[in-house]
Amino acid sequence: MTIRALVFDAYGTLYDVQSVLAKAEALCPGKGELISEVWRLKQLEYTWLRSLMLEYEDFWEVSRAALNFALRAAGIEPNPAIREPLLNNYLHLDPYPEARVALSALDGRKLAILSNGTPRMLQALLSNSGLDRWIDTLISVDSVRAYKPHPSCYGLVEPALGLARTEVLFVSSNGFDVGGAKSFGFEVAWVRRAGAGGHQSMFGMLRGRAEELGHAPDHTISALTDLPGLLPSSQ
Ligand code: LAC
Repeated sequence: MTIRALVFDAYGTLYDVQSVLAKAEALCPGKGELISEVWRLKQLEYTWLRSLMLEYEDFWEVSRAALNFALRAAGIEPNPAIREPLLNNYLHLDPYPEARVALSALDGRKLAILSNGTPRMLQALLSNSGLDRWIDTLISVDSVRAYKPHPSCYGLVEPALGLARTEVLFVSSNGFDVGGAKSFGFEVAWVRRAGAGGHQSMFGMLRGRAEELGHAPDHTISALTDLPGLLPSSQ
């Protein structure tokens, strides 16, 4: 089947969520790494819990609650002077270093984002980083009030792009997202960045590895710049 669009996950795939680390370290000296990693783990855990509990809160609120948890776990009372700058950093995350080169090499193809982020968060992120030059369609799970990997989230892509799932190459670094997208029926590329999934930290072991969910990706690449090589030039 011909691939007619590439749909990217946002946080962790195009954008480096650990780019909050410097601010976390400045605000909470000696605890920045711990806080940013627990924050990300908890943020995803809360998306799954809220979906299962049928008590949807949007991704901004989930991120705020997860940050409160991470700060308290590190022994810091989450007052607004610490919490708000960290949360607002989510609107200014750094794209991965190779993201612009990769998107520019894919220019001319249909490029979209499907993310847990709210429309407001994604629009701000895209325009603050300049990636809106290449990505024109933002699809937020907010309209189905559930989080990835719920199939209703992936189901937003076909009507938004006017394509069948078999015509979509879905791109994610997040193992659970790879499993969900593959289970839904997309062709899937897993971005497994060098250094991710090592044994050096609990975070790397938990988040950087393939999940054991029985849905292997079609492609495993080490950077976004490997994507053009997966597509015949006529596609
Ligand atoms: C997203 C989460 C999975 O962007 O990082 O949807």
